[in-house]
Amino acid sequence: MSTFAINQVSSKESRDFDRQAWASGYCNVQKELNKVPLHSIKGKIPKDLCGFFYRNGPGRLERNGQRVHHPFDGDGMIASIHFQKGEANLSNRFIRTKEWQEEEEAGKFLYRGVFGTQRPGGPIANAFDIRFKNIANTNVVKLGGQLLALWEAASPYALDPITLETYGVSSLNGALQPKEPFSAHPRFDPGHHSSRRMVTFGVKTGPKSRVRLMEFSSEEGNAGELISSREDIFDGFCFLHDFAITPNWAIFLQNAISFNPLPFVLGQKGAAQCLSSKQGAKGKFWLIPRDCGSYAGQSPQIFDAPDGFVFHHVNAYEQENKLIIDSIHYPDFPEVGPKEDFLKMNFDLIPAGILSRCEINLLNKQVSKTKFSKQCCEFAMVNPLKQGVQAQFSWMAIAGKEEGYAPLQGIKKINLLTLEECIWSAGPLGFVSEPLMVPRPNSQVEDDGWILVLVWNGERCGTDLVILKANNLDEESIVPLPISIPHGLHGSWVSEL
Ligand code: CO
Repeated sequence: MSTFAINQVSSKESRDFDRQAWASGYCNVQKELNKVPLHSIKGKIPKDLCGFFYRNGPGRLERNGQRVHHPFDGDGMIASIHFQKGEANLSNRFIRTKEWQEEEEAGKFLYRGVFGTQRPGGPIANAFDIRFKNIANTNVVKLGGQLLALWEAASPYALDPITLETYGVSSLNGALQPKEPFSAHPRFDPGHHSSRRMVTFGVKTGPKSRVRLMEFSSEEGNAGELISSREDIFDGFCFLHDFAITPNWAIFLQNAISFNPLPFVLGQKGAAQCLSSKQGAKGKFWLIPRDCGSYAGQSPQIFDAPDGFVFHHVNAYEQENKLIIDSIHYPDFPEVGPKEDFLKMNFDLIPAGILSRCEINLLNKQVSKTKFSKQCCEFAMVNPLKQGVQAQFSWMAIAGKEEGYAPLQGIKKINLLTLEECIWSAGPLGFVSEPLMVPRPNSQVEDDGWILVLVWNGERCGTDLVILKANNLDEESIVPLPISIPHGLHGSWVSEL
């Protein structure tokens, strides 16, 4: 396995984590496996945990001695762990995107990455090449008979849910135009309108932003069918990575961000590196009525948002004349794709993500914000059955220290009513990815189930699957994987097919 040596950090920082162990988690995935049995080295794999745990993330971070400028530019690789009656097996495959296949053939990078990876040859070789490489690396969800590997600036890639074979770019049965952007953050409505749905969006932005809101059936029988679609146009540029839903609303936060494309066009920077905070500007909440809700067909409502920046929302719900939305707020826009080597970033200079709640009063238009905790966190979720309604608990990945930005080294459960917390730590040499809460089948108790998380084990430079009890974060099982999976992005759970 190739790892990258870290000799020095670009500037002085108060380090309280093992940088070499963290950095060792950025390696190429070396092999593709098919249904390799897994064995627990601690505890047992729960017998009533039956289904597929899918995870997407960058799996190819270096070619021909050239490293990606930022891990978000790495080609998508899907890991699938199938659980059945206390047994588990692992399969993994790169998504055969057109660009991945061409670069495999050439043995070098042929495309620029959005986060600053350049083709060899400097700015001259990159200028005026404004193609986006669809790396399909951000999320993976199942819709109908297909897995969808998602990357927000392009259409999804469809895969076989069992073999992970790539079928190709999908138009979702004609719902999408060629190359139409499709968010990597769909939300699954558990049935607020009598049937389960996948709600998602696509955005085209510029001086004005066009948001397409789409709802697909996720019921057996007609799963994947487009039920509704609407388009709205808003003033200004937007960077929308995620959104939230309630039974009546789709909620977006337009961060106060500006985009200067010139360095991108001139071949000096990746497109995402051309984003910056828009000084003095206010972010906005955009509330778009869902077609199945009480305000169907009405115009969107717009509210001022608090200062700061949001990538990810946790959940939202309606309470009388209020909309409540929990999100991870950064005090400022975190640089995406820094100028320097990402492995040498000074983490003290990166703003910390803080779990916070915004209450939007729909009558008097007031918006208030409160924090749940001071600890830096990311990748938070609620029990999926609580999507869009009030949840009592949330689970998330947290930094290994109480305040300030640092790599994610623990899992926290927080009671959103009492603020009571419990924590599981992977430290000092373990680094966590997004935790996934899987409810126990047929349980009515909100925190009854499991937390599934892939942990980079910096001691052996490999990946462990860790299964925690959702209610108290006790370890249920630790399962070393036979491949090393770099620090990843998002994933999903699919109950037994
Ligand atoms: Co995301």
